[in-house]
Amino acid sequence: MAQAVTRATGAKAPVSTAPDWDARFGSDEAFYGLAPSGFVMDCALALPAGARVLCLAEGQGRNALALSARGFEVTALDLSAVACEQLRDRARALRLPVTVRQQDLGLWTPAPGSADAVVAVYAHMPRALRRQVHAMMIRALAPRGLVVIEGFRKEQLGRQSGGPKNPDWLYGVEDLREDFAALTIEHLATPDIVLDEGRGHRGPAAVVQFRARN
Ligand SMILES: C[S@@+](CC[C@H](N)C(=O)[O-])C[C@H]1O[C@@H](n2cnc3c(N)ncnc32)[C@H](O)[C@@H]1O
Repeated sequence: MAQAVTRATGAKAPVSTAPDWDARFGSDEAFYGLAPSGFVMDCALALPAGARVLCLAEGQGRNALALSARGFEVTALDLSAVACEQLRDRARALRLPVTVRQQDLGLWTPAPGSADAVVAVYAHMPRALRRQVHAMMIRALAPRGLVVIEGFRKEQLGRQSGGPKNPDWLYGVEDLREDFAALTIEHLATPDIVLDEGRGHRGPAAVVQFRARN
């Protein structure tokens, strides 16, 4: 596994390797399907027209493309060069103005107040790195901006519908409360749902859905 220097501690923390993700995405142009997360699209109803939306660890871009089609100004970040290129191609084909940047979130420092919403969907990483990225999400938020997160929670361990096999990489509700204590939580749910999102996410799953406002 590759190592990246985390900004918060200067220590080396493991992050997902680009080659692993590149191989995954290279073998399937819609590994997590083409449809956006229903939760994200519901949250988008709370955004003003033309809002600046930052999609983190956005992969092949199913959410970024849908949000752009709704008229938001979307920037997508991801570690995988392959996913970024696939997203650029799809955006071009659909004539959607999505800005795509290859970015390791372990080395990400956004401009303060530069986004009206920051979205992270199945952006799994080790707890220490996740805490650091959550702090950067808050930094990126404009006044009244939204954080939107959806991912597997710890109860997903042992299920075959997707997600990391290491509990440290999975969401805990208390971790989210702690990391976003500076924001107002508008929605925090822990549903068990049935995923049908490409080869990557299929079957019964334990997820967390989180929305908080600056
Ligand atoms: C499970 S996929 C989710 C993709 C997308 N959000 C979706 O739901 O379709 C996880 C994504 O995180 C990206 N990723 C993993 N580690 C990362 C890091 N350190 N910085 C940026 N992106 C990362 C991977 O390249 C991959 O696209």
